[in-house]
Amino acid sequence: MRTIAPDQNRTLASLLLKVDRKTSAPLHAQIDQALRGRILSGEVAPGTRLPPSRTLAAELGVARTTVLQALEALQAEGYLVTAPRSGVRVAPELPSEGLSPLPAGAARHASPPRLSRAARALRSTATGAPRLGPAPRAFRPGLPALDLFPVALWSRVVGRAQARASARLLEGGDSAGHPGLRRAIAEHVVAARGARCGPEQVFISGGTQQAFEEVLRLVVDPGDPVWLEDPGYLGARRAVLGASAQPVPVPVDAEGLDVEAGRARSPRARLAILAPSHQYPLGVTLSLPRRMALLRWAAEQRSVILEDDYDSEFRHRGRPLTALQGLDDAGRVLYVGTFSKTMFPGLRLGYLVVPPALVDMFAAARASLPAPASALEQAALAAFMDQGHFARHLRRMRGVYRERSEVLLEALRTRCAGLLEPSPCDTGMQLCAMLPPGVSDVRIHDRAARLGVEVAPLSDYGFGRRHRGGLVFGFGAVRPAAIRAGVETIQRALETG
Ligand SMILES: Cc1ncc(COP(=O)(O)O)c(C=O)c1O
Repeated sequence: MRTIAPDQNRTLASLLLKVDRKTSAPLHAQIDQALRGRILSGEVAPGTRLPPSRTLAAELGVARTTVLQALEALQAEGYLVTAPRSGVRVAPELPSEGLSPLPAGAARHASPPRLSRAARALRSTATGAPRLGPAPRAFRPGLPALDLFPVALWSRVVGRAQARASARLLEGGDSAGHPGLRRAIAEHVVAARGARCGPEQVFISGGTQQAFEEVLRLVVDPGDPVWLEDPGYLGARRAVLGASAQPVPVPVDAEGLDVEAGRARSPRARLAILAPSHQYPLGVTLSLPRRMALLRWAAEQRSVILEDDYDSEFRHRGRPLTALQGLDDAGRVLYVGTFSKTMFPGLRLGYLVVPPALVDMFAAARASLPAPASALEQAALAAFMDQGHFARHLRRMRGVYRERSEVLLEALRTRCAGLLEPSPCDTGMQLCAMLPPGVSDVRIHDRAARLGVEVAPLSDYGFGRRHRGGLVFGFGAVRPAAIRAGVETIQRALETG
């Protein structure tokens, strides 16, 4: 290692320091970091006198104030000292070794910290690394039509909520959630989803994912088996792995989750996570006999069902379906709803409806925690719902998604007949279309991505090899013209296979 001794100072800048104008890091921070690193590694010895700031600035090609800013920061932390007439020096009392926990250069080869079993499981390919590119485009699943969200109206409602904020709200609000929002949600899920609940059963969450994590924390212990739909929502799988619980894949067919298969694989699972009204990503509905079988299983085993009802507000046609929660007489269903689709995902607000017998336990678990989400935005959302804006927005968006689903189905029928078999699409903002046996969905995904279109391969959502691949199309955020153009691209991707 080359070391700058205390008496060599004139060429310090050119020898050891460089700045890179292409990175976004500010120049003073680059100088600070580089010099700190040299001091810590011993490359610049304690007591070394630094060149005058003017010289350093000239050699580095930066303004003198930039150098002074870096030197001041290092001085404040004790790396540098100034003395009358001797200028700026590296602090003499810095030990020459042992300052850095590792010998110079070794940091690059050091092993990362050890991780928990949950972290290792999360990192494994079993969680399906997303294959999504950076920009939202046709047909990214999960995105609502953000350009049709009434942003100006929402901003006014948020502004008014801020102006009227009580001391309680400014303090952070209730740990179970804003009382007005809990009431508005209870009314919404009773009226729109046939749920049975009062406001005291509603707990606000920071979205579905956070609600999953909370339920897992309170219902399962590490290693406990949890039924998951195969294929199914990766967020549920991540939450299970994050809780060090044991995922048990349960197949999904045209009637939804195969309860008998679940019983055969793991009769005593503590929890089942599923989307009964609109299975993700296949889009099927859990049949009534399966609903009854699932509720019976949970009642017998004293297990819990976590109902993910993420987009049922957008039923395009047919009778509205009732939530599984509305059929539950034994207090086994925990219902999770989200505003990620009905409002926008960045709001990070959702809710959990718990059975009456669990209200006290959830309230106690929340009591020592801060409020789960911004109290201000909860208050604004309560007002947005109370004033009828939410219901109006839902009505409008239901029409938009119905139209987009029809355009997509029609385009697939005309362009991809024989190549893709779309499932019916009565709800929500995505549909799954099956490929002919033997055609790899990952290959089609890759080819479509190169042509500028994003479709999620069905196999990403499964636990193992499927005999039939499929493509998941999100159409919520895609305008009709872009839907038609996107399907043409998919047709090309399929035909060049
Ligand atoms: C099946 C399913 N559940 C829930 C959600 C919403 O998750 P969150 O509320 O965490 O945004 C999504 C979003 O894509 C989803 O696809």
